[in-house]
Amino acid sequence: MLWVGEPFTAPGRGFWAKLEGRNPGGIKDRPALHMVRAARERGELRPGARIVESTSGTLGLGLALAGVTYGHPVTVVTDPAIEPLMTGLLTAHGADVAVVDAPHPVGGWQQARRDRVAELLAAEPGAWCPDQYHNPDNVAAYRPLALELIAQLGRIDALVVSVGTGGHSAGVAGVLREWFPELRVVGVDTVGSTIFGQPALPRLMRGLGSSIHPRNVAYPLFDEVHWVAAPEAVGAARALAVSRWATGGWSVGAVALVARWLAAATAPDTRIAAVFPDGPQRYAGTVFDDGWCRARGLLGHRLPERPDEIAHPGERTVTRWTRCRTVLDPLAGAGPLRSAGDRSGPARAAR
Ligand SMILES: Cc1ncc(COP(=O)(O)O)c(C=O)c1O
Repeated sequence: MLWVGEPFTAPGRGFWAKLEGRNPGGIKDRPALHMVRAARERGELRPGARIVESTSGTLGLGLALAGVTYGHPVTVVTDPAIEPLMTGLLTAHGADVAVVDAPHPVGGWQQARRDRVAELLAAEPGAWCPDQYHNPDNVAAYRPLALELIAQLGRIDALVVSVGTGGHSAGVAGVLREWFPELRVVGVDTVGSTIFGQPALPRLMRGLGSSIHPRNVAYPLFDEVHWVAAPEAVGAARALAVSRWATGGWSVGAVALVARWLAAATAPDTRIAAVFPDGPQRYAGTVFDDGWCRARGLLGHRLPERPDEIAHPGERTVTRWTRCRTVLDPLAGAGPLRSAGDRSGPARAAR
């Protein structure tokens, strides 16, 4: 745990960051090991069978660790935006890396990756996919993280978490709510992500956000959602690096930006826990590369102090940091024909 205070935050305010980048791979070491262990115990994953999964990298590192630990070959399906460092690390730890070459017309890169996973599974009998987007073991894997937070912080008033597959937000928030019924859960997504009912747009940020609707997202647990834009996440990740040393990439920047605001917006004794999913290493060529960032217009923006607000996710398409206290499951009540991007689900009133 790291206390993140001044000068990153306002004087006298701050939050606690859980540095999951200090795990061998990152936050996804937890679900990778747990999903593999559980599937082996249930007999769904036979000894020596191949593990195939779609991931932008972090889960791939965890699965490579699980493959080495339990003796399984691993194929990681990813897209061309994967950082060279990640490809190198995955390969070094024995994983095969399969890169899809074109996005799916509706579901984007993520759906294209999932389609490739299906092809690889069909081609190799016995091959198994953890399906992190919909596997409940991805959520259950985070009970220990929640218990660590309780042991380390005692009382927790607010949790700030990024959402990609929904695994760690669901797992950590679910356990913490049992202990602290008044816990305020703040979800952090990226602009252009469909998870909380915005339309899909091209996304620069990786890790958090989605162009599909992962069923592991625990919508009823969230009090509010914040969509963060790439320049804001870059600004926060960089500001953290020079003020606190401990930083990370897109999701860490976005989570830190929101936690910084929350610390200023709540009473000084509010105890805020923020989960930092990984460290900065893999982002040396993106978030921390001036040329890469400048070419995409990500530099030179003042770090905003507070978000814009919308009352409902369908109000408008957001393009900068925006907060919404109505949290929706976009597919709630959906029949089988309901498509990704359909935003007409029932609203859940803000807590
Ligand atoms: C770096 C990073 N941050 C955040 C997330 C989102 O976590 P979750 O999938 O548990 O919602 C991921 C997921 O891959 C990630 O790799």
